Amino acid sequence: MDVFVIEGGRKLDGRVRINGSKNAALPLMAAALLCDRPISFQDIPDLSDIRNMKRLLAELGVSANEDPVNGLPRLTLQAVDESEIHARYEIVRTMRASICVLGPLLARRGSARVSMPGGCAIGQRPVDLHLRGLEALGAKIELDGGDIVATIPAGRLRGTTVFMGGPFGSTVLGTANILSAAVLAQGTTTIECAACEPEIVDLAKLLISMGAKIEGAGSPRITVHGVDQLGGAEHTVMPDRIEAGTFMCAAGITKSTITLDNCPLDAMMSVTDRLDAIGVHIDPVGSGDDPLSRSCKVSCDEQMHSVQITTQPHPGFPTDLQAQFMAMLCLANGNAVITEKIFPERFLHVAELARMGASITRMGATAVVTGVKELTGAPVMASDLRASAGLVIAALAARGTTVINRVYHIDRGYEQLELRLGELGASIARATEEEAAHLIAANG
Ligand code: EPZ
Repeated sequence: MDVFVIEGGRKLDGRVRINGSKNAALPLMAAALLCDRPISFQDIPDLSDIRNMKRLLAELGVSANEDPVNGLPRLTLQAVDESEIHARYEIVRTMRASICVLGPLLARRGSARVSMPGGCAIGQRPVDLHLRGLEALGAKIELDGGDIVATIPAGRLRGTTVFMGGPFGSTVLGTANILSAAVLAQGTTTIECAACEPEIVDLAKLLISMGAKIEGAGSPRITVHGVDQLGGAEHTVMPDRIEAGTFMCAAGITKSTITLDNCPLDAMMSVTDRLDAIGVHIDPVGSGDDPLSRSCKVSCDEQMHSVQITTQPHPGFPTDLQAQFMAMLCLANGNAVITEKIFPERFLHVAELARMGASITRMGATAVVTGVKELTGAPVMASDLRASAGLVIAALAARGTTVINRVYHIDRGYEQLELRLGELGASIARATEEEAAHLIAANG
C-alpha cells in the first residue's frame, strides 16, 4: 500500500488548476443510462471513484471512449446494451456513490437491482430517502439478498410530489436519483426540500441539454416535466469546490500565496466567508466569463484566528471541508468550535491530528480545537477521503516528517495530489511502506 512522505515547513508558491468535480461527475456519468445516445464529458477527473463508476457502467452495457480535447480529458459514454440491470455488490462496496445508478436504471430500463451500500468510515449513511422517493414515483421496492430490487408495476414512473428532507437535511445523491428518474416519468414531479448543492445544478444542466424539462435546480423546489425520451449531449463538469477549498487550506496553514485557476468561487461563499474570518484572503483574478470557473489568489500572511464552523447543507459550510479546516485551525490563535451537522460521527481525523500535537476536545458532534504553536510530523493513518486530506494539510506545516498510510483514500478524490502540491513547492512523495522506511532511515 502506498504512503505519502511529507516534510513539513515549506512555503507554497505558484498556480494550480482545479479539476472537474468528483461529486458532480459521478451522478453525471450515471445519467448516460437514461438514453442510448452518446454523452460527452469534458474535465472528468482521473480518480479511483471515477474508474469504479466506469467499471460499473461497463457492466451495465455503457461503452466508454476517451479522447482529450485541447489538453483536457474528454470521456464519451454511450449505453450500447440496455439489457443488464444489476449493479453488483463487488463494485458497490468499493464506492457508495454507485447508488446513483438506481434512478436512471429504473426510469429507463423499467427495473433495477442495485446492491445496498453498507456503512462507511464517516457514519451510517442510509438510503431510505432515495427509496421512499422512488416509491412515491410508483416504484415497488424490495430487498433481496442484500440487493435493492426496484420495479414499476404500472409500467412507467408517474410524476408526483416527493419530499427529500431527512434528519440531517436534504440528501444530495437522493435528490440526484429522484431528479434523474423523474425526467422520464409521466407527468410533473415536484421535488420538495431538494438538495441545493451546485452539483445538483450541474446534473440538471446536463439533463436539460439531453432534452429534459427541469425548473428550479439549485433551490429547495425542483419541478420536472417528464419527457418520453432523452438524447445525446456534451457537458463540461463543474470544477471541484472541495478540491479548491483543500488547496486554500494548504495555502493558509503554510502562510503562502498561490493562484487557483478554474475555481468555482461562486459556489464557495460559506467557505470563503470562514477563510476571511481566519485570515486567509481570497481575491478573484481578472473577470473571467464563467463565474463558476474563475481564477483567484489565495494568501495568508498573518497569524490565523480561530472561528466557529458548523457544517450544513449547501449554501452552508460543506462537511467535505470540515477535516481540512480543522487541520488548519490547529495552528490558529485561540479556540475554534467545529460542529458537524451532516455526519455527526465524521471525526476520525481528530485522533490522528492529536498524534501530530494538535489539541482537540470532541464532545458529540462538536470539536473544540485549541490552537498550538506547532505541529510535529508523525506516522498517521488515512481513514477516509477528506480526513486524509486534513492530514496532508497538517503535515505541510508540521515540523519534521509525516508518513500518511493508506493514501488510496486520497486517490479516490484528489488527482495526483502529491505532484500538484510538489509543483507548488511542497516536499511530498508517494512511496511504498518499505521505501518510506528507507527514506526516513536515510534522513536520520
Ligand atoms: C454526498 O453524499 C457526497 N457524495 C458526500 O461527499 C458529501 O459528504 C455528502 O453528499 C453531503 O454533502 C457524493 O456526492 C458522491 P447525503 P450523499 O445523502 O449524497 C442522511 C466526499 O467526501 N441521509 O446528502 O450520500 C445522511 O446519513 C463525500 O466526497 C438519510 O438520512 O450524502 C447524512 O446525514 C463523502 N437518508 C445526510 O442525510 C438517506 O436516504 C446527508 O447525506 C440519505 C441520506
